[in-house]
Amino acid sequence: MERESSSRLYKARKIEEKGISEISAESRPVYHLSAPMGWMNDPNGFSVYKKEYHLFFQYHPFSNAWGPMHWGHCKSSDFVKWDYLPMAMAPDQSYDAGGCYSGSALEVDGAHVLFYTGVIDRYREDGSHDYRQVQCMAKGDGLDYCKYEGNPVIDGSMLPKGSSTEDFRDPRVFAEEDGYYLVAGSRGGDGYGQVLLYRSENLEHWEFLSVLDKSRGKYGKMWECPDFFPLGGKQILLVSPQDMRAVGYEFHNGNNSMFIYGSYDKKVHRFEREEITSADYGLDFYAPQTLLTEDGRRIMIGWMQSWDAGFMKDFLDWSGMMTIPRELTLKDGRIYQSPVRELEAYRRNRVEYTEKQISGETILKGVCGRVIDLQVEVTEFDFRHFTVHFAKNEEYEMLLQYNHSRKCLTIDRTHSGLVRDVVCRRKMTAEPAAEEGGRKILRLRLLLDRYSAEIFVNDGEKVMSSVFHTPMEAEEIVFDTDGRACINVTKYDICM
Ligand code: FRU
Repeated sequence: MERESSSRLYKARKIEEKGISEISAESRPVYHLSAPMGWMNDPNGFSVYKKEYHLFFQYHPFSNAWGPMHWGHCKSSDFVKWDYLPMAMAPDQSYDAGGCYSGSALEVDGAHVLFYTGVIDRYREDGSHDYRQVQCMAKGDGLDYCKYEGNPVIDGSMLPKGSSTEDFRDPRVFAEEDGYYLVAGSRGGDGYGQVLLYRSENLEHWEFLSVLDKSRGKYGKMWECPDFFPLGGKQILLVSPQDMRAVGYEFHNGNNSMFIYGSYDKKVHRFEREEITSADYGLDFYAPQTLLTEDGRRIMIGWMQSWDAGFMKDFLDWSGMMTIPRELTLKDGRIYQSPVRELEAYRRNRVEYTEKQISGETILKGVCGRVIDLQVEVTEFDFRHFTVHFAKNEEYEMLLQYNHSRKCLTIDRTHSGLVRDVVCRRKMTAEPAAEEGGRKILRLRLLLDRYSAEIFVNDGEKVMSSVFHTPMEAEEIVFDTDGRACINVTKYDICM
Protein backbone atom coordinates (compact mmCIF):
# COMPACT_ATOMS: atom_id res chain seq x y z
CA MET A 1 0.00 0.00 0.00
CA GLU A 2 1.19 3.50 -0.82
CA ARG A 3 1.51 5.75 2.18
CA GLU A 4 -1.11 8.46 1.75
CA SER A 5 1.20 11.45 1.70
CA SER A 6 -1.12 13.47 -0.48
CA SER A 7 -0.66 17.14 0.10
CA ARG A 8 -4.15 17.54 -1.30
CA LEU A 9 -5.61 15.44 1.49
CA TYR A 10 -3.47 17.20 4.07
CA LYS A 11 -4.63 20.64 2.94
CA ALA A 12 -8.26 19.58 2.72
CA ARG A 13 -8.06 18.16 6.25
CA LYS A 14 -6.74 21.49 7.53
CA ILE A 15 -9.58 23.37 5.88
CA GLU A 16 -12.03 20.85 7.25
CA GLU A 17 -10.76 21.24 10.81
CA LYS A 18 -11.26 25.00 10.68
CA GLY A 19 -14.60 24.78 8.86
CA ILE A 20 -16.15 22.41 11.37
CA SER A 21 -15.23 24.65 14.26
CA GLU A 22 -17.03 27.56 12.61
CA ILE A 23 -20.39 25.84 12.25
CA SER A 24 -22.58 26.14 15.32
CA ALA A 25 -24.21 23.06 16.79
CA GLU A 26 -27.54 24.97 16.83
CA SER A 27 -27.55 25.06 13.03
CA ARG A 28 -27.38 21.26 12.82
CA PRO A 29 -29.77 18.40 13.41
CA VAL A 30 -29.32 16.94 16.90
CA TYR A 31 -29.32 13.18 16.32
CA HIS A 32 -28.85 12.89 12.57
CA LEU A 33 -25.45 13.02 10.96
CA SER A 34 -24.97 16.19 8.92
CA ALA A 35 -22.12 17.32 6.66
CA PRO A 36 -19.18 18.48 8.81
CA MET A 37 -18.99 21.40 6.38
CA GLY A 38 -19.69 21.86 2.68
CA TRP A 39 -21.56 19.20 0.78
CA MET A 40 -22.37 15.58 1.67
CA ASN A 41 -24.18 12.92 -0.36
CA ASP A 42 -24.24 9.11 -0.25
CA PRO A 43 -23.29 7.11 2.83
CA ASN A 44 -20.15 5.08 2.07
CA GLY A 45 -18.22 2.33 3.85
CA PHE A 46 -20.88 1.78 6.52
CA SER A 47 -19.09 -0.90 8.53
CA VAL A 48 -18.05 -2.30 11.88
CA TYR A 49 -14.35 -1.84 12.52
CA LYS A 50 -12.75 -2.76 15.84
CA LYS A 51 -16.21 -2.89 17.40
CA GLU A 52 -17.16 0.65 16.38
CA TYR A 53 -19.47 1.78 13.61
CA HIS A 54 -17.73 3.73 10.87
CA LEU A 55 -19.46 5.77 8.27
CA PHE A 56 -17.83 7.52 5.34
CA PHE A 57 -19.68 9.74 2.92
CA GLN A 58 -19.44 11.49 -0.41
CA TYR A 59 -18.01 14.86 0.49
CA HIS A 60 -17.12 18.19 -1.09
CA PRO A 61 -15.86 20.27 1.80
CA PHE A 62 -15.06 23.36 -0.26
CA SER A 63 -18.61 24.47 -1.01
CA ASN A 64 -22.22 23.59 -0.31
CA ALA A 65 -22.52 22.16 -3.80
CA TRP A 66 -21.43 18.81 -5.24
CA GLY A 67 -17.83 18.92 -6.52
CA PRO A 68 -14.81 16.60 -6.83
CA MET A 69 -15.63 13.87 -4.38
CA HIS A 70 -13.64 13.23 -1.20
CA TRP A 71 -14.53 10.65 1.45
CA GLY A 72 -15.63 12.24 4.72
CA HIS A 73 -15.45 10.07 7.81
CA CYS A 74 -17.08 9.64 11.21
CA LYS A 75 -17.69 6.95 13.78
CA SER A 76 -20.14 6.02 16.48
CA SER A 77 -20.62 3.41 19.14
CA ASP A 78 -24.42 3.58 19.07
CA PHE A 79 -25.53 4.86 15.61
CA VAL A 80 -26.90 8.03 17.22
CA LYS A 81 -23.97 10.08 18.46
CA TRP A 82 -21.38 10.50 15.70
CA ASP A 83 -17.85 11.86 16.02
CA TYR A 84 -16.31 13.50 12.99
CA LEU A 85 -12.90 12.13 12.02
CA PRO A 86 -10.49 13.72 9.54
CA MET A 87 -11.60 13.05 5.97
CA ALA A 88 -10.26 9.73 4.71
CA MET A 89 -9.54 10.24 1.01
CA ALA A 90 -9.08 13.02 -1.52
CA PRO A 91 -9.06 12.65 -5.31
CA ASP A 92 -5.31 12.75 -5.76
CA GLN A 93 -4.29 9.85 -8.03
CA SER A 94 -4.35 9.46 -11.80
CA TYR A 95 -7.13 6.87 -11.51
CA ASP A 96 -9.36 8.93 -9.18
CA ALA A 97 -8.52 12.56 -9.97
CA GLY A 98 -12.11 13.05 -11.18
CA GLY A 99 -13.43 11.96 -7.78
CA CYS A 100 -13.49 9.21 -5.18
CA TYR A 101 -17.05 8.00 -5.68
CA SER A 102 -19.17 5.79 -3.47
CA GLY A 103 -18.15 2.43 -2.08
CA SER A 104 -17.98 0.18 0.94
CA ALA A 105 -15.70 -1.07 3.71
CA LEU A 106 -14.92 -4.23 5.62
CA GLU A 107 -12.53 -5.36 8.33
CA VAL A 108 -9.88 -7.84 7.20
CA ASP A 109 -7.12 -9.10 9.53
CA GLY A 110 -7.21 -5.96 11.64
CA ALA A 111 -7.21 -3.57 8.68
CA HIS A 112 -10.08 -1.41 7.56
CA VAL A 113 -10.35 -1.98 3.81
CA LEU A 114 -12.20 0.50 1.61
CA PHE A 115 -13.49 -0.09 -1.90
CA TYR A 116 -14.52 2.91 -3.95
CA THR A 117 -14.93 4.13 -7.50
CA GLY A 118 -12.10 6.10 -9.01
CA VAL A 119 -13.20 8.50 -11.70
CA ILE A 120 -10.77 9.07 -14.55
CA ASP A 121 -11.67 12.38 -16.16
CA ARG A 122 -8.98 13.90 -18.34
CA TYR A 123 -8.19 15.13 -21.83
CA ARG A 124 -5.68 13.20 -23.92
CA GLU A 125 -3.00 15.00 -25.88
CA ASP A 126 -5.09 14.72 -29.03
CA GLY A 127 -7.88 16.62 -27.28
CA SER A 128 -10.22 13.67 -26.85
CA HIS A 129 -11.95 13.15 -23.52
CA ASP A 130 -11.05 10.13 -21.42
CA TYR A 131 -13.86 9.47 -18.92
CA ARG A 132 -14.06 6.12 -17.14
CA GLN A 133 -15.03 4.70 -13.78
CA VAL A 134 -12.84 2.03 -12.17
CA GLN A 135 -12.93 0.20 -8.85
CA CYS A 136 -10.18 0.85 -6.31
CA MET A 137 -9.02 -0.22 -2.89
CA ALA A 138 -7.51 1.55 0.13
CA LYS A 139 -6.48 0.23 3.52
CA GLY A 140 -6.33 1.94 6.88
CA ASP A 141 -6.43 1.81 10.63
CA GLY A 142 -9.72 3.61 11.24
CA LEU A 143 -8.10 7.03 10.90
CA ASP A 144 -5.62 7.15 8.02
CA TYR A 145 -5.99 5.31 4.72
CA CYS A 146 -3.50 4.45 1.97
CA LYS A 147 -4.55 3.74 -1.57
CA TYR A 148 -3.39 0.41 -3.00
CA GLU A 149 -0.48 0.71 -5.43
CA GLY A 150 -2.10 -1.83 -7.76
CA ASN A 151 -5.21 0.31 -8.32
CA PRO A 152 -7.53 0.04 -10.07
CA VAL A 153 -8.45 -3.50 -9.05
CA ILE A 154 -11.36 -3.71 -11.52
CA ASP A 155 -11.55 -1.73 -14.72
CA GLY A 156 -13.60 -1.62 -17.91
CA SER A 157 -11.87 -4.70 -19.33
CA MET A 158 -13.78 -6.79 -16.75
CA LEU A 159 -17.24 -5.69 -17.76
CA PRO A 160 -19.73 -7.90 -19.57
CA LYS A 161 -19.86 -7.13 -23.29
CA GLY A 162 -21.48 -3.83 -24.23
CA SER A 163 -21.65 -2.43 -20.69
CA SER A 164 -20.75 1.20 -20.15
CA THR A 165 -17.23 2.03 -18.95
CA GLU A 166 -18.55 5.48 -17.94
CA ASP A 167 -21.35 4.25 -15.67
CA PHE A 168 -19.70 1.56 -13.59
CA ARG A 169 -19.52 2.37 -9.91
CA ASP A 170 -20.25 2.00 -6.19
CA PRO A 171 -18.55 -1.32 -5.28
CA ARG A 172 -20.03 -3.11 -2.29
CA VAL A 173 -17.72 -5.81 -0.96
CA PHE A 174 -18.62 -8.61 1.42
CA ALA A 175 -16.90 -11.71 2.74
CA GLU A 176 -18.29 -15.23 2.36
CA GLU A 177 -16.76 -18.53 3.52
CA ASP A 178 -15.22 -19.16 0.10
CA GLY A 179 -13.85 -15.69 -0.64
CA TYR A 180 -14.77 -12.08 -1.18
CA TYR A 181 -17.60 -10.86 -3.36
CA LEU A 182 -18.29 -7.45 -4.83
CA VAL A 183 -21.45 -6.04 -6.38
CA ALA A 184 -21.28 -2.90 -8.51
CA GLY A 185 -23.75 -0.66 -10.29
CA SER A 186 -23.58 -0.57 -14.06
CA ARG A 187 -25.36 0.44 -17.27
CA GLY A 188 -25.70 -2.50 -19.60
CA GLY A 189 -25.42 -2.75 -23.36
CA ASP A 190 -29.19 -2.17 -23.58
CA GLY A 191 -28.73 1.28 -21.99
CA TYR A 192 -30.41 0.30 -18.71
CA GLY A 193 -29.30 -0.40 -15.16
CA GLN A 194 -27.85 -3.67 -13.91
CA VAL A 195 -25.88 -5.07 -10.98
CA LEU A 196 -22.67 -7.01 -11.57
CA LEU A 197 -21.14 -9.64 -9.30
CA TYR A 198 -17.37 -10.25 -8.94
CA ARG A 199 -15.31 -12.60 -6.80
CA SER A 200 -11.79 -12.54 -5.34
CA GLU A 201 -9.58 -14.68 -3.12
CA ASN A 202 -7.38 -11.84 -1.94
CA LEU A 203 -9.22 -8.55 -2.62
CA GLU A 204 -6.62 -7.65 -5.25
CA HIS A 205 -7.49 -9.88 -8.20
CA TRP A 206 -11.12 -10.09 -9.21
CA GLU A 207 -13.10 -12.12 -11.71
CA PHE A 208 -16.49 -11.26 -13.16
CA LEU A 209 -19.17 -13.82 -12.28
CA SER A 210 -22.65 -12.75 -13.33
CA VAL A 211 -25.24 -10.06 -13.87
CA LEU A 212 -27.36 -10.41 -10.73
CA ASP A 213 -30.36 -8.47 -11.96
CA LYS A 214 -31.21 -5.74 -14.44
CA SER A 215 -33.72 -3.02 -15.13
CA ARG A 216 -34.93 -4.53 -18.41
CA GLY A 217 -36.08 -1.10 -19.52
CA LYS A 218 -38.45 -0.74 -16.55
CA TYR A 219 -36.55 0.43 -13.52
CA GLY A 220 -34.21 3.19 -14.62
CA LYS A 221 -31.17 3.74 -16.78
CA MET A 222 -28.41 3.30 -14.27
CA TRP A 223 -28.44 1.29 -11.07
CA GLU A 224 -26.36 3.02 -8.40
CA CYS A 225 -25.15 2.01 -4.96
CA PRO A 226 -26.11 -1.70 -4.82
CA ASP A 227 -26.12 -3.73 -1.63
CA PHE A 228 -26.81 -7.47 -1.45
CA PHE A 229 -27.67 -9.32 1.74
CA PRO A 230 -29.78 -12.11 3.23
CA LEU A 231 -32.72 -11.13 5.44
CA GLY A 232 -35.19 -13.44 7.13
CA GLY A 233 -34.86 -16.24 4.58
CA LYS A 234 -34.86 -14.01 1.49
CA GLN A 235 -32.01 -12.43 -0.41
CA ILE A 236 -32.32 -8.68 -0.88
CA LEU A 237 -30.77 -6.64 -3.64
CA LEU A 238 -30.94 -2.98 -2.66
CA VAL A 239 -30.38 -0.55 -5.54
CA SER A 240 -30.86 3.11 -6.35
CA PRO A 241 -31.95 3.55 -9.97
CA GLN A 242 -31.70 6.85 -11.81
CA ASP A 243 -34.27 8.25 -14.24
CA MET A 244 -37.36 6.24 -13.39
CA ARG A 245 -40.92 6.98 -14.41
CA ALA A 246 -43.57 7.11 -11.70
CA VAL A 247 -45.59 3.92 -11.13
CA GLY A 248 -48.73 4.49 -9.04
CA TYR A 249 -47.72 5.59 -5.56
CA GLU A 250 -45.00 2.92 -5.39
CA PHE A 251 -42.27 4.65 -7.41
CA HIS A 252 -41.90 8.34 -8.12
CA ASN A 253 -40.31 10.00 -11.12
CA GLY A 254 -36.54 10.49 -10.94
CA ASN A 255 -34.15 8.64 -8.67
CA ASN A 256 -35.64 5.92 -6.46
CA SER A 257 -34.25 3.38 -4.01
CA MET A 258 -35.75 -0.06 -4.06
CA PHE A 259 -35.65 -3.44 -2.38
CA ILE A 260 -35.58 -6.34 -4.80
CA TYR A 261 -36.72 -9.45 -2.93
CA GLY A 262 -35.56 -12.79 -4.26
CA SER A 263 -33.58 -15.95 -3.74
CA TYR A 264 -29.92 -16.52 -4.39
CA ASP A 265 -28.18 -19.68 -5.56
CA LYS A 266 -24.62 -19.16 -4.34
CA LYS A 267 -23.24 -22.09 -6.33
CA VAL A 268 -24.14 -20.66 -9.70
CA HIS A 269 -24.29 -17.00 -8.63
CA ARG A 270 -27.86 -16.56 -9.77
CA PHE A 271 -30.34 -14.20 -8.17
CA GLU A 272 -34.01 -14.91 -8.87
CA ARG A 273 -36.17 -11.79 -8.51
CA GLU A 274 -39.58 -12.20 -6.87
CA GLU A 275 -40.80 -8.73 -6.03
CA ILE A 276 -39.77 -5.07 -5.93
CA THR A 277 -40.88 -2.35 -3.52
CA SER A 278 -39.72 1.17 -2.75
CA ALA A 279 -37.32 1.50 0.14
CA ASP A 280 -38.80 4.84 1.22
CA TYR A 281 -41.87 6.81 0.12
CA GLY A 282 -40.87 10.33 1.17
CA LEU A 283 -39.38 13.25 -0.72
CA ASP A 284 -35.75 12.75 0.33
CA PHE A 285 -34.10 9.38 0.44
CA TYR A 286 -31.33 7.95 -1.70
CA ALA A 287 -28.32 5.68 -1.99
CA PRO A 288 -28.84 3.64 1.20
CA GLN A 289 -26.41 0.98 2.35
CA THR A 290 -26.41 -1.52 5.18
CA LEU A 291 -24.18 -3.21 7.73
CA LEU A 292 -24.59 -6.25 9.94
CA THR A 293 -24.02 -5.68 13.67
CA GLU A 294 -22.33 -8.20 15.92
CA ASP A 295 -25.71 -9.07 17.43
CA GLY A 296 -27.05 -9.90 13.96
CA ARG A 297 -29.08 -6.79 13.12
CA ARG A 298 -29.16 -5.53 9.51
CA ILE A 299 -28.97 -1.72 9.75
CA MET A 300 -29.63 0.61 6.81
CA ILE A 301 -28.71 4.27 6.47
CA GLY A 302 -29.57 6.56 3.55
CA TRP A 303 -28.82 10.05 2.31
CA MET A 304 -31.81 12.21 3.27
CA GLN A 305 -31.92 14.31 0.14
CA SER A 306 -33.12 14.13 -3.41
CA TRP A 307 -30.70 14.94 -6.22
CA ASP A 308 -33.33 17.05 -7.93
CA ALA A 309 -34.26 19.17 -4.91
CA GLY A 310 -31.12 20.41 -3.23
CA PHE A 311 -32.68 23.51 -1.72
CA MET A 312 -31.56 23.12 1.91
CA LYS A 313 -28.24 24.72 1.06
CA ASP A 314 -30.16 27.98 0.54
CA PHE A 315 -30.85 28.04 4.27
CA LEU A 316 -27.97 26.31 5.99
CA ASP A 317 -24.20 26.66 6.43
CA TRP A 318 -23.71 23.05 5.39
CA SER A 319 -25.47 20.73 2.96
CA GLY A 320 -26.59 17.14 3.36
CA MET A 321 -27.67 14.81 6.14
CA MET A 322 -28.29 11.12 6.69
CA THR A 323 -31.41 9.30 7.86
CA ILE A 324 -31.53 7.70 11.26
CA PRO A 325 -29.96 4.24 10.90
CA ARG A 326 -32.81 1.73 10.66
CA GLU A 327 -33.11 -1.91 11.67
CA LEU A 328 -34.48 -4.06 8.88
CA THR A 329 -36.61 -7.13 9.51
CA LEU A 330 -38.62 -9.29 7.18
CA LYS A 331 -42.25 -9.72 8.25
CA ASP A 332 -45.04 -11.20 6.12
CA GLY A 333 -42.76 -11.04 3.08
CA ARG A 334 -42.05 -7.32 3.47
CA ILE A 335 -39.10 -5.38 4.88
CA TYR A 336 -40.02 -3.43 8.01
CA GLN A 337 -37.79 -0.56 9.10
CA SER A 338 -37.51 0.83 12.59
CA PRO A 339 -35.17 3.46 14.01
CA VAL A 340 -32.21 1.81 15.76
CA ARG A 341 -33.22 0.81 19.27
CA GLU A 342 -30.21 2.75 20.62
CA LEU A 343 -32.21 5.95 20.02
CA GLU A 344 -34.50 5.04 22.91
CA ALA A 345 -31.72 5.82 25.40
CA TYR A 346 -31.96 9.49 24.37
CA ARG A 347 -35.70 9.85 24.94
CA ARG A 348 -36.76 12.24 27.73
CA ASN A 349 -39.85 14.05 29.03
CA ARG A 350 -42.52 11.55 28.09
CA VAL A 351 -45.96 13.07 27.49
CA GLU A 352 -48.85 10.70 26.96
CA TYR A 353 -52.52 10.92 26.01
CA THR A 354 -54.79 7.92 25.64
CA GLU A 355 -58.11 7.60 23.83
CA LYS A 356 -58.27 11.29 23.05
CA GLN A 357 -61.34 12.18 20.99
CA ILE A 358 -60.54 14.65 18.24
CA SER A 359 -62.94 16.70 16.15
CA GLY A 360 -61.66 19.82 14.40
CA GLU A 361 -58.27 21.26 15.40
CA THR A 362 -56.77 20.03 18.64
CA ILE A 363 -53.58 20.99 20.43
CA LEU A 364 -52.41 18.67 23.18
CA LYS A 365 -50.50 20.35 25.96
CA GLY A 366 -46.86 19.30 25.98
CA VAL A 367 -47.04 17.79 22.50
CA CYS A 368 -44.80 20.08 20.47
CA GLY A 369 -41.15 20.42 19.50
CA ARG A 370 -38.67 20.01 16.69
CA VAL A 371 -36.42 17.31 18.12
CA ILE A 372 -38.87 14.65 19.12
CA ASP A 373 -40.04 11.07 18.80
CA LEU A 374 -43.82 11.33 18.40
CA GLN A 375 -46.08 8.30 18.24
CA VAL A 376 -49.68 8.66 17.17
CA GLU A 377 -52.12 5.76 17.04
CA VAL A 378 -55.43 6.34 15.32
CA THR A 379 -57.99 3.91 16.70
CA GLU A 380 -61.34 5.29 15.41
CA PHE A 381 -61.87 6.37 11.85
CA ASP A 382 -65.09 8.36 11.57
CA PHE A 383 -63.56 10.87 9.14
CA ARG A 384 -62.30 11.38 5.62
CA HIS A 385 -59.09 13.18 6.56
CA PHE A 386 -56.95 13.11 9.65
CA THR A 387 -54.04 15.55 9.62
CA VAL A 388 -50.98 16.14 11.76
CA HIS A 389 -49.61 19.67 11.29
CA PHE A 390 -46.07 19.87 12.64
CA ALA A 391 -43.07 22.23 12.73
CA LYS A 392 -45.79 24.85 12.63
CA ASN A 393 -46.30 28.47 13.55
CA GLU A 394 -48.82 31.02 12.29
CA GLU A 395 -47.22 31.23 8.88
CA TYR A 396 -45.42 27.95 8.17
CA GLU A 397 -46.10 24.29 8.61
CA MET A 398 -45.52 20.72 7.52
CA LEU A 399 -48.44 18.39 6.90
CA LEU A 400 -48.99 14.69 7.23
CA GLN A 401 -52.48 13.78 6.09
CA TYR A 402 -54.27 10.45 6.13
CA ASN A 403 -57.18 10.02 3.72
CA HIS A 404 -59.30 7.19 5.09
CA SER A 405 -61.53 6.66 2.06
CA ARG A 406 -58.55 6.49 -0.31
CA LYS A 407 -56.33 4.74 2.24
CA CYS A 408 -53.40 6.96 1.51
CA LEU A 409 -50.99 9.14 3.39
CA THR A 410 -49.58 12.42 2.07
CA ILE A 411 -46.57 14.35 3.23
CA ASP A 412 -46.65 17.99 2.19
CA ARG A 413 -44.03 20.71 2.62
CA THR A 414 -45.70 23.30 0.37
CA HIS A 415 -46.02 25.80 3.21
CA SER A 416 -42.71 25.14 4.89
CA GLY A 417 -41.18 28.32 3.52
CA LEU A 418 -39.37 26.97 0.46
CA VAL A 419 -38.55 29.45 -2.26
CA ARG A 420 -37.71 26.86 -4.93
CA ASP A 421 -40.17 25.28 -7.35
CA VAL A 422 -39.47 21.73 -6.22
CA VAL A 423 -41.65 18.69 -5.54
CA CYS A 424 -43.39 19.35 -2.24
CA ARG A 425 -45.89 16.54 -1.89
CA ARG A 426 -45.74 12.78 -2.03
CA LYS A 427 -48.36 10.12 -1.38
CA MET A 428 -48.26 6.46 -0.52
CA THR A 429 -50.89 3.86 0.25
CA ALA A 430 -51.34 3.18 3.96
CA GLU A 431 -53.98 1.24 5.83
CA PRO A 432 -54.77 0.67 9.46
CA ALA A 433 -53.29 -2.66 10.50
CA ALA A 434 -55.43 -5.36 12.08
CA GLU A 435 -54.62 -6.04 15.72
CA GLU A 436 -55.38 -9.20 17.64
CA GLY A 437 -59.13 -9.26 18.23
CA GLY A 438 -59.82 -7.58 14.89
CA ARG A 439 -59.42 -3.95 16.01
CA LYS A 440 -57.69 -1.73 13.44
CA ILE A 441 -55.04 0.83 14.27
CA LEU A 442 -53.05 3.21 12.10
CA ARG A 443 -49.69 3.75 13.76
CA LEU A 444 -47.61 6.79 12.87
CA ARG A 445 -44.21 7.42 14.38
CA LEU A 446 -42.68 10.77 13.50
CA LEU A 447 -39.00 11.36 14.15
CA LEU A 448 -38.39 15.08 13.88
CA ASP A 449 -34.94 16.58 14.07
CA ARG A 450 -35.00 20.30 13.34
CA TYR A 451 -34.99 20.05 9.54
CA SER A 452 -36.30 16.59 8.83
CA ALA A 453 -39.18 14.21 9.39
CA GLU A 454 -39.04 10.44 9.09
CA ILE A 455 -42.46 8.87 9.34
CA PHE A 456 -42.65 5.18 10.19
CA VAL A 457 -46.08 3.76 9.48
CA ASN A 458 -47.45 0.64 11.19
CA ASP A 459 -44.21 -0.21 12.98
CA GLY A 460 -42.11 0.46 9.92
CA GLU A 461 -44.12 -1.30 7.22
CA LYS A 462 -43.47 1.83 5.15
CA VAL A 463 -41.40 4.96 5.76
CA MET A 464 -41.51 8.50 4.40
CA SER A 465 -38.41 10.69 4.83
CA SER A 466 -38.33 14.36 3.98
CA VAL A 467 -36.37 17.48 4.77
CA PHE A 468 -37.95 20.88 5.21
CA HIS A 469 -37.16 24.27 6.58
CA THR A 470 -39.79 26.07 8.60
CA PRO A 471 -38.26 28.58 11.05
CA MET A 472 -36.80 26.87 14.11
CA GLU A 473 -39.33 28.50 16.45
CA ALA A 474 -42.17 26.87 14.48
CA GLU A 475 -42.66 23.94 16.80
CA GLU A 476 -46.38 23.55 17.26
CA ILE A 477 -48.19 20.31 16.57
CA VAL A 478 -51.88 20.39 15.72
CA PHE A 479 -54.14 17.38 15.13
CA ASP A 480 -57.07 17.99 12.85
CA THR A 481 -59.93 16.02 11.33
CA ASP A 482 -63.04 16.72 9.25
CA GLY A 483 -64.96 14.13 11.27
CA ARG A 484 -64.16 12.36 14.52
CA ALA A 485 -61.03 10.45 15.39
CA CYS A 486 -59.75 8.76 18.50
CA ILE A 487 -55.99 8.86 19.07
CA ASN A 488 -53.32 7.76 21.50
CA VAL A 489 -50.26 10.01 21.55
CA THR A 490 -46.84 9.56 23.12
CA LYS A 491 -44.16 12.19 22.74
CA TYR A 492 -40.55 12.23 23.86
CA ASP A 493 -37.90 14.88 23.42
CA ILE A 494 -34.66 13.51 22.06
CA CYS A 495 -31.83 14.93 24.15
CA MET A 496 -28.13 14.38 23.52
C1 FRU B 1 -25.33 8.33 -6.06
C2 FRU B 1 -24.06 8.69 -6.80
C3 FRU B 1 -23.17 7.48 -6.93
C4 FRU B 1 -21.81 8.07 -7.09
C5 FRU B 1 -21.90 9.28 -6.19
C6 FRU B 1 -21.11 10.46 -6.67
O1 FRU B 1 -25.93 9.38 -5.41
O2 FRU B 1 -24.36 9.23 -8.06
O3 FRU B 1 -23.52 6.59 -7.96
O4 FRU B 1 -20.82 7.18 -6.70
O5 FRU B 1 -23.26 9.62 -6.10
O6 FRU B 1 -21.08 11.46 -5.69
